[in-house]
Amino acid sequence: MESLGVLLTYPQFPYLEQELLRRGCHLLRLYDSPKNDQFTFLHANASSIRAVIGDTHVGADAAMIDVLPDLEIVASFSVGLDKVDLVKCKERGIRVTNTPDVLTDDVADLAIGLAIAVLRKIPAADRFVRSSAWKKGGYPLTTKFSGKKVGILGLGRIGLAIAKQAEAFNCPISYNSRSEKPHPNYKYYPTPLDLASNCEVLVVSCALTNETRLIVNRAIIDALGPQGVLINIGRGPHVDEAELVSALVEGRLGGAGLDVFENEPNVPEEFFWLDNVVMTPHVGSDTVETSKAMADLVIANLEAHVMGRPLLTPVL
Ligand code: DGY
Repeated sequence: MESLGVLLTYPQFPYLEQELLRRGCHLLRLYDSPKNDQFTFLHANASSIRAVIGDTHVGADAAMIDVLPDLEIVASFSVGLDKVDLVKCKERGIRVTNTPDVLTDDVADLAIGLAIAVLRKIPAADRFVRSSAWKKGGYPLTTKFSGKKVGILGLGRIGLAIAKQAEAFNCPISYNSRSEKPHPNYKYYPTPLDLASNCEVLVVSCALTNETRLIVNRAIIDALGPQGVLINIGRGPHVDEAELVSALVEGRLGGAGLDVFENEPNVPEEFFWLDNVVMTPHVGSDTVETSKAMADLVIANLEAHVMGRPLLTPVL
């Protein structure tokens, strides 16, 4: 990959940058340029950039692609590609890869972890111990996770991994997905509303598309109800965040575990005061092990592209 010009849109795991440098790539760090003046940087370096490595924060949108005439490949350090303009890439013949499979277990772990953390109120219990409130009395009773009816919105790789993990907690599994899948143990509901009406913990694990944007609306939240829990490890815009805030504040929804938000890194402050909300900063795949596996996959895709070999995880 000698002298391949690679644009990095966001500070990546250091290992990825080290490995790219070791292979002789010429790295152009968009994230080092002032946020309000990134187009000056892009224009100045446009002729050197043949590859973009984006992620869940900054991908490759139409405006970026338009100023990069020599762009050949977008290798995303993520499985979700909602920050990449796939239509534009297709028009221009730009190849696109992502990082499926290697992160599936981690995202599923976090989904289950959030569900348990919300129901058992683990973060609030931790604060209770640290603040010595325990000395004044016991911690209030919480709610059981094992055996809860788990509904999964989007039974792709990650949704399926969540289902398998939840099964180990004796949770009956149901799902809504683009189509019914051959899983005799999992009950299919043809609409998200049917699913929400028949589960206690609803996990959003679908890709963000025009069809799934705002899939969790007021009707879904009300169907889950005051005992229901929403877990979102998909994307913030899957959920009507204003509706979620009012449902939680008014007690119309039991709780929420959120790894993703509409305007990351900005989070509605109303959540900060609620013990039935557990939040993480979009870290579904952010473990040392998985970040390395994702980096290796990004590099392997770039290498395959440069060598004219088939891409490992092509999307386009
Ligand atoms: C991804 O890679 O798209 C996920 O959001 C990881 O959390």
